[in-house]
Amino acid sequence: MKAERLRKVPLFEGLSDHDYKHLEQWTDEVSVPANKHLVHQGAYPHEFMVIEAGTADVEHDGTHLADLGPGDFFGEMALLLNVPRTATVKATSEITLVVMHERNFRAMEEEIPIVASRIHRILEERKAKAAEQGIET
Ligand code: CMP
Repeated sequence: MKAERLRKVPLFEGLSDHDYKHLEQWTDEVSVPANKHLVHQGAYPHEFMVIEAGTADVEHDGTHLADLGPGDFFGEMALLLNVPRTATVKATSEITLVVMHERNFRAMEEEIPIVASRIHRILEERKAKAAEQGIET
């Protein structure tokens, strides 16, 4: 995805031109219709995704966990914790995603630590919430 759009995504705010050049190479734009499943609980993970526009909901064993909207990301838990997908994420409107394949996500973790730390902060919150609800991660 083009740097001018990536700059507007909060997760990628305030990076260097060099970082945006990498991110352009590492990301794809994908648009999907409402009701499409974006991630399946229990599946083996391949991608990390950020919502550019639209909304999604997160469910674990059929129980609603969270609503996601523009700027929110998902798919980090299985990749970072080396577990199957912890929840199902479904589009609740037409949605535009910034999609990053696992190998590029790992490169980003190494090369853009500020983004890695933003993701880890949210990961910790989600892990804490999962623990509160008795969900294993
Ligand atoms: P992952 O386990 O890879 O796939 C399902 C995703 O749902 C998970 O990563 C998180 O990105 C997201 N997710 C899980 N729990 C929550 C939560 N409590 N709030 C928001 N998103 C969540």
